[in-house]
Amino acid sequence: MSAYDIAGYAADALASLTPEEIEFLRELPKAELHAHLNGSIPIPLLQKIANEADFSSSAISSDAVKAGIEQLKTGVVFNELHDFFGLFPAIYALTATPETLAEAARAVLAQFLEPDPVSPKGQPMAAYLELRSTPRTTPNMSRKQYLEAVLDEVERYPVERAALIVSLDRRMDAKTAEEIVSLAIKLRQEGRRVVGVDLCGDPLAGNMDNFEQYFKRVKEAGLGVTLHIAETSENTHEDTLKLLSFSPDRLGHATFLDTDARDVVFSNNACVEICLSSNLLCKTVSILEEHHIRHYLEANHPIAVCTDDTLPFRNNLLGEYALLLAKEPLGLGLTREEVERIARMSMASRFASPVSKTAQ
Ligand code: IMP
Ligand code: ZN
Repeated sequence: MSAYDIAGYAADALASLTPEEIEFLRELPKAELHAHLNGSIPIPLLQKIANEADFSSSAISSDAVKAGIEQLKTGVVFNELHDFFGLFPAIYALTATPETLAEAARAVLAQFLEPDPVSPKGQPMAAYLELRSTPRTTPNMSRKQYLEAVLDEVERYPVERAALIVSLDRRMDAKTAEEIVSLAIKLRQEGRRVVGVDLCGDPLAGNMDNFEQYFKRVKEAGLGVTLHIAETSENTHEDTLKLLSFSPDRLGHATFLDTDARDVVFSNNACVEICLSSNLLCKTVSILEEHHIRHYLEANHPIAVCTDDTLPFRNNLLGEYALLLAKEPLGLGLTREEVERIARMSMASRFASPVSKTAQ
């Protein structure tokens, strides 16, 4: 098995395409704008780190971590979105030092940006990647060291290929959110390749009023803002409108927008990051035919098709594009022109990178 094997909806859609159609998809310059670092680590690397790790000071046992990896290997079945968040403690135990975190970041960047080993012409999955991650403190590193370790890996690539989005988690307290926003802004001002700030985590956690002041600072500093929004049917109207009041440049998922919220999104033209396999597997969307991507396509609204978390969802960017082109019911049955337009929209929705001394 290679690190790039995929399964499920994306794999089935890809398998239904002709070699010529796959080649067409490979040739399209695509931007991956919604990929979470710790949700995208290749399984072989997790296994390697787990075999070498010392769990003596870890809150989770070696057996629990290995059981988590086995579960990921065979494919996790999610009954609802909340099941998904339970996977991360095992992964976090493996990216708790600057060294293993850097190794993970390098592997995720390679997965998207290096030539795909099974591509006949050696095209990469993505022309450009905005990787996102939530900085954690561990006994081995501060949040600043976390971000520096990831940035060192991102900046090995030219500025037109890779950048970092710093994530805040809805569960965070004010002090932590303040620390992370200050770090993101400072690193950007120092010329590091931070291009935006994201809000992610359990979609029902936290009070979004508390985040307003932080996103105001992010915008004032000239960084891009992307927010996971209306990811579940339980997200309230107030929660969604509050997040929209932060004037986000892009939105993650935006699955359950009511008419008022959709009007705001359409008038602001914020690009919607669409993660088809993620929504189907987490059961926030029951079938492809009912996916909200259709509303955005009909309205000619900017979207970017993305993977979200290739590790639990066992997908890749090519597979997500296959879901666009494949005939119904395996895919959306879009035309090549429509798919080409979606790829162009993803490239047009990149956050601007700072001119950096580390740019090559
Ligand atoms: P990290 O930020 O690199 O640690 O990536 C994993 C984290 O991303 C998880 O702990 C979640 O907080 C977040 N995440 C990944 N996928 C989703 C999603 O679909 N919705 C909300 N948060 C997500
Ligand atoms: Zn996400």
